[in-house]
Amino acid sequence: MSRHDAASVPDRLREAGGLLEGVARDIARETGVPEAHVWGIGSFYHMLSRSDAKVRVCTGLSCLLGGAQDVLDAAKAAGLPVEEASCLAGCDVPPAVLRDRRTMPHVTVQDVEAAGGDWSKLDSAAAPGETEWTGVVGPEGAADGELAIDLSKSAAPLGAAFKAAAELGPDGVIDLLEASGLQGRGGAGFPAHIKWRGVAGQAEQERFVVLNADEGEPGTFKDRECMLRRPDLVLEGLAIAAHAIGAKDCYLYLRGEFEVPLGIVRRMIDDAHASGIYGDIRFHTHEGNGAYICGEETALLEALEGKRGMPRIKPPFPVEVGLWGKPTLIHNVETIACVPGIVERGGDWFRGLGRTEAGTKLYCVSGHVQNPGTYELPLGVSLDELVEAAGGYVGTLKAFSPGGASSGFLPSDRRGDPLDFAHLGSLGSMLGSAGVVVLNDTVDMRWAATQQLRFFEAESCGQCAPCRIGTRYLRESVERQARGDAVDGPLANAADAAWQMNEGSICGLGQAAPLPLTSALKYFPEAFEEETPSEG
Ligand SMILES: Cc1cc2nc3c(=O)[nH]c(=O)nc-3n(C[C@H](O)[C@H](O)[C@H](O)COP(=O)(O)O)c2cc1C
Ligand code: SF4
Repeated sequence: MSRHDAASVPDRLREAGGLLEGVARDIARETGVPEAHVWGIGSFYHMLSRSDAKVRVCTGLSCLLGGAQDVLDAAKAAGLPVEEASCLAGCDVPPAVLRDRRTMPHVTVQDVEAAGGDWSKLDSAAAPGETEWTGVVGPEGAADGELAIDLSKSAAPLGAAFKAAAELGPDGVIDLLEASGLQGRGGAGFPAHIKWRGVAGQAEQERFVVLNADEGEPGTFKDRECMLRRPDLVLEGLAIAAHAIGAKDCYLYLRGEFEVPLGIVRRMIDDAHASGIYGDIRFHTHEGNGAYICGEETALLEALEGKRGMPRIKPPFPVEVGLWGKPTLIHNVETIACVPGIVERGGDWFRGLGRTEAGTKLYCVSGHVQNPGTYELPLGVSLDELVEAAGGYVGTLKAFSPGGASSGFLPSDRRGDPLDFAHLGSLGSMLGSAGVVVLNDTVDMRWAATQQLRFFEAESCGQCAPCRIGTRYLRESVERQARGDAVDGPLANAADAAWQMNEGSICGLGQAAPLPLTSALKYFPEAFEEETPSEG
C-alpha cells in the first residue's frame, strides 16, 4: 500500500457520505487497502461513522451553559436526525450547531421548531461567512506594533517577512526565535526554537512542517479567528519555518468543522503557489473528520497518514520521527502566526510584548461574560483583566477553567493571578490553549465536572486501559455519588484513579481527564455533599 493509497481513505469515505453499505468494500477494492482497515478508519471518526445524522449539537461546557441541551432535546422531540458533538470551536456563539461541515451560531429551540422537521430550513441561524464571527479585540487603544498578530487587521500581501528570513538564513532565523522566547501556543508552552533546531539538525534530509489547526479543546476558538483574519501570517510563518528547517512540504491539518477558514486558507495557498513567492515550498491541506484526539501531535500525524488518529508512544518525538517517519516540525496555528512579526521586528520586540512571559496571547473567553470572544493581550494578564476586556462578568464569578477542559477548575480567588504557562502549571492547572471558560455562582460544580468527564470519556481513543476505563469510571462515580448510591464512597477512589490515569496513559488526554473532577473536589467540596444533581 503506498503512502497515497492509505492517506486517501478518509477522503474517499467522506466523498461517499460515510460508512454506508458497500462503501468500505468499494474503497478497499479501489485502493488495495484492506477492508478491515477502511472500516477501522470510518468508525473511528465522528464525521465518517454516521451518515444519517447530518446535524450535530455541541455539548461542550460553554454551549451547555448557553442552552445546548434544550436545543438537542427539541431536535430529538421534532424527530430530526441529530447527535451530540463534543466541541465545535464555537464556544463564543453558544449553542453551536454543525450542519454538514458548517457551524451555525446561537441556535435556539425556536429555530429548531421553526425548521419543522427539516434541518435544511434551519435558516434563522445562518452560518457566518468569512468575517461574521465574534471577532477579536486587542487591548484598549493598542497601536500597530503592540500586537504580534493583530486580528483586527486584514490579511496583508505575502512575502516581506519571508524575504527577510531568507536574508537572515536558517541559523539566523532560529537564533531570532530563541531570542524572542516564543513558546508553543498549542498547549504545552514548549520553547519553539528547540524544536526548530532539533529538526534542522537531523541527518535525514526529507523533513516536513505540519500546522496543527485541529482546535478541539472545549473553550478554544482562537485558531479559527487566526485563519479567518490573518491567513497571511499563518502561511508566511509556515514558509519561514520550512526555510529554516530545510523542508519543502508544509501540511495544514484543519479540523473538519472549519469549512470557512479552510476556504480562505486554500485561496491564499493557490495565490502563493501561482506567484511562486515561496520558491519550491508547497502547501497541502487536510480536513479532519471529527476526533478531538487528533489535536495531539502524533495522533494528528497518524490521521495525516490516513490512519485512525491514535497517539504514538513518545519518544521518539516528531522532531526525529514524524510524518511518514521523517523529521517533522509541528506547531499550533497561533505559534506559527507569531513568526513573521518576530522575523520583521526582532526577538526583543516580541519578548517585550508580554508581561510575565514573552509575547501577546490570543485568549479565548466564553461562558458567563458579557462579550465572549478572542482577545489579544500581553501574556500574563489576569482573569479580571481579560474579562474586563470582554465587557465584564455575567453574575458573580464562582470558578473558571483557564485552559479548557484539560486545565480543570480554579476558584474565584485566583482571579488576579497571571494567566501564563509557568504560574498556572505551578497551581496544578495549565494555560493550555488559553480557552478560558467562566462560571458564575449559578453553576453546580459537580454538574460542571461531570460534563467535562463526559467529554473525555467520549473522546478517549481507547488504546490505554487507564484512560479508557478511568474516564468512564470517574464519570460513573460522580453520577452515582450524585444519585446517592455511592455506598462505598467511590469518590474516595478518585485520587487513586487519577494517579493511575496520569501514570499509565500514553498521552495528555488520559493524564488531564481527571483534573476537572479532582480540582472541583479540592476547591468546591460542598458541591459534592448534596445528593440531587442540578443542571448547571
Ligand atoms: C489530547 C490533546 C489534544 C491536543 N489538541 C491540540 C489542538 O487542538 N491544537 C494544538 O495546536 N495542539 C493540541 N495539542 C498539543 C499538541 O500535541 C502539540 O503539543 C502542539 O501542536 C505543538 O504545537 P506548539 O508547539 O505550537 O504548541 C493537544 C495535545 C493533547 C494531549
Ligand atoms: S491516554 Fe487516552 S486518548 Fe491518549 S492514547 Fe491513551 S487511550 Fe488514547
